[in-house]
Amino acid sequence: MCENPGCPQHRGDAVIFRQLLDPETSTYTYLLADEESREAVLIDGVLEQLERDVALLRELELELTHTLETHVHADHVTSSGHLREQLGSRVAVAAAGGVANADVELRDGDVVTFGGYALEVLSTPGHTDGCVTYHCREAGMAFTGDALLIRGCGRTDFQQGDAAMLFRSVRERIFALSAETLLYPGHDYQGRTVTTVAEEKRWNPRLAHPKRIDVAVPANLRSGLVAPQETAEPAGERRPVADLMEEQGRQDAEPWLGMGI
Ligand SMILES: [Fe+2]
Repeated sequence: MCENPGCPQHRGDAVIFRQLLDPETSTYTYLLADEESREAVLIDGVLEQLERDVALLRELELELTHTLETHVHADHVTSSGHLREQLGSRVAVAAAGGVANADVELRDGDVVTFGGYALEVLSTPGHTDGCVTYHCREAGMAFTGDALLIRGCGRTDFQQGDAAMLFRSVRERIFALSAETLLYPGHDYQGRTVTTVAEEKRWNPRLAHPKRIDVAVPANLRSGLVAPQETAEPAGERRPVADLMEEQGRQDAEPWLGMGI
């Protein structure tokens, strides 16, 4: 029996969860609701899908309390303002996003509740400076927007993009969540829907530890004239690429970052 009083199984009810797709922009919208109270939140609604989402909320007999944005998007228009007009929901977005008519300006550590559930706001800037990740501890889920995509990261070449900052956000905030946490991205362009912290740590080519970096980088800084065995670090003391880059004064994390707007 689960000992965690916040756990859905322990409480005898469950979170209602729907992952919705806008095929035109490959954008995911997420609906979360408390089965008992019927309170719901919608993350990253898309204007073109407004009628679909309103219909779903009505069919499931849910009360939309908040719309949440993971960031100010560059590839689609949000439905949040229209949902507020139609359903009375509150528009919540990061304070750093600079949205003029938001009802709730979110900051790191803030909590948005729906029924007995809570979403904690983690500041994860880098794709934009107002990017946040929403973490639902009770359900073991996090919604990363474009900070972390499945096997990739969001672009950093516009909207205050900062590759080094994004690298730190992912490694220090998202990767600090428990290994089994389910990660739901803002987009996927290849039909994938969900990943985990453990899976991305192992397989994300933008963030994984390059196999030979501890040997190759020191050797190449001497034009390859140092024998590999002289530069290899003892097993168990490998350091992340970000530390090595910082140590060498390099800010060019860009090659590690990939698709996603
Ligand atoms: Fe984006």
